[in-house]
Amino acid sequence: MENVKVAFLGFGNVGTGAYKIINQNNDEIKRSEAVRLEVSKILVRDINKKRALDVGDSVLTDKIEEIVNDPEISIVAEFIGGVDPAKDYVLSCLKSKKSVVTANKELIAKHGQELQKVAMDNGVGLYYEASVAGGIPVIKILLESLQANRIKGIMGIINGTTNYILTKMSEEGRDFEDVLAEAQRLGIAEPDPTSDIEGFDAVYKLSILSSIAFHKRVNVDCIYREGITKITVDDINYGKELGFVLKLLAIAKKQDNTIEVRVHPTFIPQDHPLAAVRSSFNAIFLKGDAVGDIMLYGRGAGDLPTGSAVVSDIISACHRKSNHKYVNFFNDEQDSKDANYNNDWESEFFIRLTVKDKPGVLAKIAGSFGKYGVSIASVIQKDRGKESAPLIFVTHAAKELSLKKAISDIKNQDDVLKVENIICVEH
Ligand code: NDP
Ligand code: HSE
Repeated sequence: MENVKVAFLGFGNVGTGAYKIINQNNDEIKRSEAVRLEVSKILVRDINKKRALDVGDSVLTDKIEEIVNDPEISIVAEFIGGVDPAKDYVLSCLKSKKSVVTANKELIAKHGQELQKVAMDNGVGLYYEASVAGGIPVIKILLESLQANRIKGIMGIINGTTNYILTKMSEEGRDFEDVLAEAQRLGIAEPDPTSDIEGFDAVYKLSILSSIAFHKRVNVDCIYREGITKITVDDINYGKELGFVLKLLAIAKKQDNTIEVRVHPTFIPQDHPLAAVRSSFNAIFLKGDAVGDIMLYGRGAGDLPTGSAVVSDIISACHRKSNHKYVNFFNDEQDSKDANYNNDWESEFFIRLTVKDKPGVLAKIAGSFGKYGVSIASVIQKDRGKESAPLIFVTHAAKELSLKKAISDIKNQDDVLKVENIICVEH
């Protein structure tokens, strides 16, 4: 039986969840994995803060050196979040020959390649299953179960906060701001929810997944990003009438050497498997050339689900000792900048306009779509007001840039009062 000393950096939601799991399941882990985990140090920012769990005063510290310089600690798990000071702390631990487990998607998406190189140079591991989709083991599946495949696509709901907000807006007809405030009260959304609602969180996660899947570092700034702040209940309700459900999707596709990566609100048909993913749950579709479609579903956040991924990574790090698994990037930093990214993707589009209510308006708008080769699949006009009317179009598959040209033509028409929203439709 091996006794493994572990240190935590951070003791908030995820740190507390990982600690609880080790406490609750250590006997089971000892029996099945032949290791006994001991959390011997926990770094926090404020050592005087009252903690949800009593871990003993000698365990808490506010000095990183007490962890970096302790030769008995072989694994460090990081749950501070963000880049500073997490990156420096993780680098110091790796250089001190300690394997690192992290839940920090921003750190891995922005600096994962550099951190992995330092880990390899020092013969230790870098594990980050918890950084994407909380408790869903998607990284291990990509790294260790689908190597036989060329991964052609990823499509997923990988942000729980936005899925919760969109589900409530759709099912209860409530406004974005109202549901966001509720999500904050319930602790689902963070006090500063910008990263979630503006799509940054999903971009970090998609960067990690697509880099692993495509063996090519996909920089965060190469990913198209649009959050959910402009979505209204009207958009969702008109979409419903057309048979759609609205989700914030992360989409990555690879064809030959061209990569398409994007995060944006997306309408999907009501019978699409992702449409049934409600509330703060996550789900990810992976498409391999040999295996076909795989769908993973589960809790994408929370102390215990995320702690589950963290503690499993700690156990993997214990077993691997010096034989750690690394991501097989074929390119370097420069090469990844030169990768061929497709910014003119093809999709169907939902377009909601407010127009003057008079004869001939629809024909003129249809003319603009036609001028740029955008074919219309359906049109609805509802709730005629005194002088204006909402007009909703769904197109057949069209190129993003052609659609943009058609929309700028439409915007210039006197009878078009406002382009309210444009939302991709995927099947
Ligand atoms: P919390 O804010 O709950 O906890 C952060 C912890 O880090 C606190 O214990 C804090 O100390 C400590 N900390 C912050 N700054 C410093 C510093 N400069 N030096 C030392 N300690 C510091 O965050 P979460 O647990 O929610 O998230 C942690 C990470 O996990 C993030 O990267 C997040 O994106 C990721 N993650 C979170 C999930 C979730 O469900 N919450 C799910 C998946 C990933 P103190 O307690 O003293 O303030
Ligand atoms: N804020 C994230 C989400 C949780 O809402 O999905 C951790 O990744």
